[in-house]
Amino acid sequence: MCGIVGYVGPRQALEVVVDGLRRLEYRGYDSAGIAVVNQGKIESRKKAGKLANLEDELSSEPMSMSSTGIGHTRWATHGAPNDVNAHPHLSEDGSIAVIHNGIIENFATLRDELRSQGVELLSQTDTEIVAHLLSAQMKVSENLPDALRQVAQRLTGAFTLVVVHADSPDLVVAARRNSPLVVGRGDGENFLASDVAAFISFTRNAIELGQDQVVVLTPQDVLVTDFFGNHVDVLEYEVTWDAAAAEKGGFDLFMLKEIAEQPKAVADTLLGRIDDSGTVTLDGLELEPEYLASIDKIVIVACGTAYHSGMIAKYAIEHWTRIACEVELASEFRYRDPILRPSTLVIAISQSGETMDTLMAMRYAREQGAKVLAICNSNGSTIPRESDAVIYTHAGPEIAVASTKAFLTQIVACYLFAMFMAQSRGGVDKAAAREIALELATMAHKIDLVLDTVVGVREIAKELVDANSVLFLGRSVGFPVALEGALKLKELAYMHAEGFAAGELKHGPIALIEDGLPVFVVVPPPTDELHDKIVSNIQEVRARGAKTIVLAEEGDSSIDEFADHIIRLPKCPALLQPLVATVPLQVFSCEMATLKGFDVDQPRNLAKSVTVE
Ligand code: M6R
Repeated sequence: MCGIVGYVGPRQALEVVVDGLRRLEYRGYDSAGIAVVNQGKIESRKKAGKLANLEDELSSEPMSMSSTGIGHTRWATHGAPNDVNAHPHLSEDGSIAVIHNGIIENFATLRDELRSQGVELLSQTDTEIVAHLLSAQMKVSENLPDALRQVAQRLTGAFTLVVVHADSPDLVVAARRNSPLVVGRGDGENFLASDVAAFISFTRNAIELGQDQVVVLTPQDVLVTDFFGNHVDVLEYEVTWDAAAAEKGGFDLFMLKEIAEQPKAVADTLLGRIDDSGTVTLDGLELEPEYLASIDKIVIVACGTAYHSGMIAKYAIEHWTRIACEVELASEFRYRDPILRPSTLVIAISQSGETMDTLMAMRYAREQGAKVLAICNSNGSTIPRESDAVIYTHAGPEIAVASTKAFLTQIVACYLFAMFMAQSRGGVDKAAAREIALELATMAHKIDLVLDTVVGVREIAKELVDANSVLFLGRSVGFPVALEGALKLKELAYMHAEGFAAGELKHGPIALIEDGLPVFVVVPPPTDELHDKIVSNIQEVRARGAKTIVLAEEGDSSIDEFADHIIRLPKCPALLQPLVATVPLQVFSCEMATLKGFDVDQPRNLAKSVTVE
């Protein structure tokens, strides 16, 4: 939610910042803006719409050369996405420029205070007040870092603030609370960004900032303090992927690239975690064996697609470990007074590791005495940093707003955890967990096989492009797959789509079925006890005029006469089927959005990393 970039060093700041914004645009694309420090002045440009609008303006009216700059791509919270509300925001005398990610919750009080002092606010944003507060604070503080520390102490809510001052040509200062910020450490230059993708082509050395910290960047130094000026030691780490991983690599869309990367992402997530005998080992699971043995309830918290992976995990966890498992939308969790004990393990699933709803849910769980295990794709992000243990997925950077490879790897990580628990605790079905672990090890290849079916899926999309609505049905682990298929279609093709548990159909949703309505049905393997029941569900919707698109295992001919289209899935155990069944649904929604002419990688109103509640 909003992308932030800062640079100080010998390169052209403008070029570095624009390059960084291009890589961070997936975080927000309502407007973009830049400020550079040049000869005792701040020069700033900002434009509503995508970064390309700003770039067009910059090429017709270039900005000055500078060694110091900041830039922002916005996902609007306070105020419409127009030129005025775009960041940076400047102090009245134009000497201070501020960019911001997050929400300043006490903004109304501070705005009224500023107005009573005669300050004229130009925008509707919560950000602009920071520029004015800093301007006033500079009259009493020794320097910009000190002024920012003082102002940060007055703010409530979530913020990453990055600031430059006209009189400080080689200085960028930032403050962080509950919103991502990472430093890129270069040789004689330094970078700041919401995400390492912004500076990965310049340096792989990164420093993740903690909560309530201020960082002072000069070309030579990175100095971190708390909001009171006390020095803080930081941990530098090396980013494991390179710039090419965050490029389209010959694909037209990031989403297409990321769909194609799924076999590798799954293989990488499994790498070194299952041995030849099917025994699971988990690096990073630093929970005491006594604690693991004491767990009597698991609660999964997550949002969106990650929530669907949690729903799938519940089936595996309860089946293999016999530990009761609840799955809850993170945004609802802490508001219903959930029962949490030291013997409750909360699993927070998040691709970005920054989703505010999930972060607040896990913080609440820890306050109540529960331990938290993070399943996360972003090394060093806030959710794993604040968790008791972490299982990293190794999907690599996911840039498209629609989550694909992160989803499959989240399922894999959850399954690894369930198997690990089944194998390490007594009294559970260890042999079955071992057998399925060996099956899991073959899934990367099976996902590769499904990718061969995409041509057929695209043809189906062409046929259905004018549909008004699409339904998705599944049972057991096929139900979350159905929900995920519907979510993808909504977010990418802006269509009405719903996922249902197929058994629930007769309790209401079947009334939606009318002539020609496309209904996708995820059929479990013929050996599964639900197979025949869902075949009956297919007949029920078809009898009422639905056009059925059936995802069924290869060789399963029982559905042939009831399917208008069949998408074949490789054979695998029922619990693992989501890993193959989701892929055609991803391709379908991507193709539908493309056919409708929509921006697949950056769908309207959305942002990749949702850092506000
Ligand atoms: O980064 P997270 O996994 O915590 O994100 C959670 C959701 O915002 C995310 O999965 C969202 O639903 C995706 N856009 C769906 O494709």
